[in-house]
Amino acid sequence: MTPTEAKKRIAELRAEVVRHAELYYRQAKPEISDRDYDKLERALADLEKEFPQFAKKDSQTAKVGDDRLAGFSTYRHRQPMQSLDNTYSEEEYRAFHQRLAKQLEREALSYVVEPKIDGLAVSVTYEKGRLTRAVTRGNGEEGDDITVNAKTIHSLPHELKAGRKHPVPDVIEIRGEIYLTLEEFQRINQEREEAGEPVYANPRNLAAGTIKQLDSKEVARRKLEIVLYGIGFCEPSVAESQSGFLELVKHWGLPTVEKFWTADGIDEAWKAVGELDKLRHAFAYGTDGAVTKLDSFPLRRAAGSTSKAPRWAIAYKFEPERAETKINAITIQVGRTGVLTPVAELEPVQLSGSTVSRATLHNRDEIERKDIRVGDYVLVEKAGEIIPAVIEVNTKRRTPACQPYKFPGKCPECATKVVQLEGEVALRCPNYDCPAQIVRRIGFFASKPALDLDGMGGIIAEKLVERGLVEEPLDVFGLKIEKLAILNLGSNDEPRIFGEKNAQKLLDAISHARELPLARWLLAFAIPDVGEETAHDIASLHKNLEEVADSQVLKDYVELDRLNDEMLRNSPASKENKSKSDEEKDEMRPEWERFKSAADDLGQRLIDAGVAKPAAGENPVPRKANTKVGPIAAKSILMWFQSNRGEATLKRMKELELNPVSQQSSSGGSAFFGKTVVLTGTLENMSRNQAQEKIRALGGNVAGSVSRKTDFVVAGPGAGSKLDDAKKYGVKVIDEVEFQAMIGVT
Ligand code: IVH
Repeated sequence: MTPTEAKKRIAELRAEVVRHAELYYRQAKPEISDRDYDKLERALADLEKEFPQFAKKDSQTAKVGDDRLAGFSTYRHRQPMQSLDNTYSEEEYRAFHQRLAKQLEREALSYVVEPKIDGLAVSVTYEKGRLTRAVTRGNGEEGDDITVNAKTIHSLPHELKAGRKHPVPDVIEIRGEIYLTLEEFQRINQEREEAGEPVYANPRNLAAGTIKQLDSKEVARRKLEIVLYGIGFCEPSVAESQSGFLELVKHWGLPTVEKFWTADGIDEAWKAVGELDKLRHAFAYGTDGAVTKLDSFPLRRAAGSTSKAPRWAIAYKFEPERAETKINAITIQVGRTGVLTPVAELEPVQLSGSTVSRATLHNRDEIERKDIRVGDYVLVEKAGEIIPAVIEVNTKRRTPACQPYKFPGKCPECATKVVQLEGEVALRCPNYDCPAQIVRRIGFFASKPALDLDGMGGIIAEKLVERGLVEEPLDVFGLKIEKLAILNLGSNDEPRIFGEKNAQKLLDAISHARELPLARWLLAFAIPDVGEETAHDIASLHKNLEEVADSQVLKDYVELDRLNDEMLRNSPASKENKSKSDEEKDEMRPEWERFKSAADDLGQRLIDAGVAKPAAGENPVPRKANTKVGPIAAKSILMWFQSNRGEATLKRMKELELNPVSQQSSSGGSAFFGKTVVLTGTLENMSRNQAQEKIRALGGNVAGSVSRKTDFVVAGPGAGSKLDDAKKYGVKVIDEVEFQAMIGVT
């Protein structure tokens, strides 16, 4: 290659690498595989080495990918977070050792080999054992402050377990990866598919997209996990080796790598890499390689690092297993909300230890983008090492018989014309009575997190609908043993009868579901935007379905959101209104003030009632209060109960005598929920302690003195000045009999 050609190629490669680094790190929406990205970056680095006159200090090859986003405040790492050199070849892996041995002038080097976790890098700081901050890698020097979101990760302790043998330092930065389990990844993607939203290609992207959400409530709904393995800044020093540090991390109660190896020399390390490759598929997180690090911290310091990565570590990346196979057909699945999902029916092929015969193609756009046709030979890979995905078509093997795929214009199940809703990628069957949708709805209704109707698996639901025994999920509560026992699960020619025993088991599960708490039912109705967590939150605010259907709290949540929106719309200082004249801005001011104060009033009222928390930070304004349920879910649930479907559901529930109550029924809708109560005088049937406990269990607060903010005074014989205060402030006074009735004791 001539220097002129090299210069041009370097410029091209740089632009490509920068674009893909942006897609990967900042947007979590890569267009190419990690392997292809590594190849691009390597090609650029090689050329820069060969033609140093064109190398640039700030080339992507010399710095870490930047993940910082607008909307987050940044935080400077006490010790920079670097990247890792990586390789796919054993030869280069061994050359890493040779280089180090030469530099450190010693042949015998001990290493630690760890899984390379396919998540997103994070640094968590503990000060005197308390979690104070979580920050993304950012540009290595400073990253986005994601503390609030990271605190929603259940496995991340807010406090380190200190011990005599493993004391906690004053300040420590611990490095690790945030990831999503396969189960969670599939759950969320399925939800997104159903909602007509684009799906994430692998768990890493979804985890990255999640932690960078501005709404931490949403983050909590997606159950992120964390694994910690590295040490950053630490004062005073606590460990002198990686293996020692990993043991400490475990003692402190932090989640860490499932397994690591200590190896004397590169041969042993290479053996460990091989062992890891065999074990890694059983790990909770996706792994894309093995990280080999010098064990000794003093030796690490001696080895030092380049601008991008330490010289004392290397990542050996496993080649993603891929296979070529033929698409025999494309079938269409109709989901619970009518979304049509195309599925590639593949010629079965072995991939990473299992046979793959189907892969989702997600939606019509995806088929068009990759130009996937029936009869094509395609490359399949397991996305995030787990889920089979069609990567690309091998167009060289394409025959003229392979014609572009025509997405059906009608639902394959009920022949209704499909529609595309605005802003959605998905096509949907709009027929609510489409048998496929009913079957899916029943499947969801019966699923474990919903009503857990064991035995109501796919085929049973399908046959119940096919034979006309069930037309909507609630119909299962009307099923009778006589008909259920003789349900034919086979065909007319080859009947297969469900049987009395199985039927009874299913009916037992159905009868058990009658007693399930409100939250499970709210989930079972499959109301848009209401997932497990939200269903629980909603249930905790209400006593029963009727209360939810006409919920003042939810209406208040929606109203608070509206007031905030209006305030912003009328704000003379907002970006949108920047171009307005000073006069126009002056005119807007009173409106802005009006919405601002209304939002503050409502926010404060919700905080006082205990159904919202003040926003984070010092001196937060009440209008920014964190409501227990987000406005989107609140709106969705109110709309659902007002819709024909919601009304019919409530009516049918009554007919079937189904009346689920909140587990905190006691708390959720109780008269004391979020209320401040003062006790005065003596109670005859319970001690004051018992009464206090009961009020707290019902979600109320017990105060010692009466003020304007008191909601109730419970007054027994001998009540004194508190009763006078109650009268003065106009606070409601109840006696013990009323109190007992309100707490459900008669
Ligand atoms: S050590 C200074 N160990 O991979 C070197 N990194 O591709 C710090 N990663 O930036 C890295 N698993 O985010 C290390 N067991 C592991 C890892 C690991 C995943 C990430 C890390 C790093 C990236 C480089």
